[in-house]
Amino acid sequence: MTSDKEIEHAVAVLRAGGLVAFPTETVYGLGADASNPDAVSKVFAAKGRPHDHPLIVHVADAARLADWARAVPEAARTLARRFWPGPLTVILKRAAGVGDLVTGGQDTIALRVPSHPVAQALLRQFGGGIAAPSANRFGRVSATTAAHVRSELGAEVDCILDGGAADVGIESTILDLSGAQPSLLRPGAITARQLEAALGRPLAPPDANSPRAPGTLARHYAPRTPLRVLEGGLMLELAASLARQGKRVAVLARSASRPLQADVRWIAAADDAKAYAHDLYANLRELDAAKCDMILVEAPPPAADWAAIGDRLARAAAGAAPAETT
Ligand code: TXA
Ligand code: MG
Repeated sequence: MTSDKEIEHAVAVLRAGGLVAFPTETVYGLGADASNPDAVSKVFAAKGRPHDHPLIVHVADAARLADWARAVPEAARTLARRFWPGPLTVILKRAAGVGDLVTGGQDTIALRVPSHPVAQALLRQFGGGIAAPSANRFGRVSATTAAHVRSELGAEVDCILDGGAADVGIESTILDLSGAQPSLLRPGAITARQLEAALGRPLAPPDANSPRAPGTLARHYAPRTPLRVLEGGLMLELAASLARQGKRVAVLARSASRPLQADVRWIAAADDAKAYAHDLYANLRELDAAKCDMILVEAPPPAADWAAIGDRLARAAAGAAPAETT
């Protein structure tokens, strides 16, 4: 675990305008002092991320919301009490004085209180907000261990805090509370149903007036190897047919059992949404590293607790199509 000395060092790096990669319960973040535009611009440079993709500002607790949002609606307070610290991000109207860089020039700001003890210790000692996207190169699979961050962004980061493998494994649920109706911009471990139950009202689907969440477009969370998501039986047929053509195939299976004869790189993932999400990005990285011709993923079941996993897999498939990986 991370020592007090390491946290102190990380805080000094943030105060000096440097970059600190840190664990959260969802995925690792690439953090900078959210109130320092020079530091925030380093985040975009390190990730290779376009400037119109806004960042989430992480704060120690809900009392800090008023520092960043010009109005904190009752719905935000309700959700904060129920789900924070935890894997939920809310979009609110930004406060005067919040920089254009961190918000991508939008009138709104994304805010989250992470629960990971290392993230909490860092935020409490630092005192301010930490702007942090997921600690991966733009468009690629998020990092869920310190080793992932080191291998992908090691040279660009001034300090990496190691808090072990991220517990949840996929990015936070993003809920827009800046409009007339709450709407879900990115599914996550906290489901739409849980949010509706806590708010006592249904969520609206995002519409033309919703704030843009550019990172939720297709071509995201993608390995380099072409990836397809298929129902179990079809997946096994395609794996066999590709193998017959002399192609090397990597499979992320869930309930399908490994065919005895086929020579494929095979990972049997958990058939439980929580455990599956925990290992998803590490599994995709491992299959990608095998440098096969194709990754085949067994489709998740159509259940509410698998929705966020289905969302990430669909984007990985869209983003990994050969024509789009330039
Ligand atoms: O779990 C997480 O949310 C992780 C950890 C590190 O906290 N962070 C994360 O950040 O996933 P990132 O930058 O990879 O994804 C943030 C998403 C992007 O899709 C971005 O477009 C959206 O949040 N976003 C940020 N600010 C926004 C805003 N003001 N309006 C709409 N979407 C926003
Ligand atoms: Mg990301």
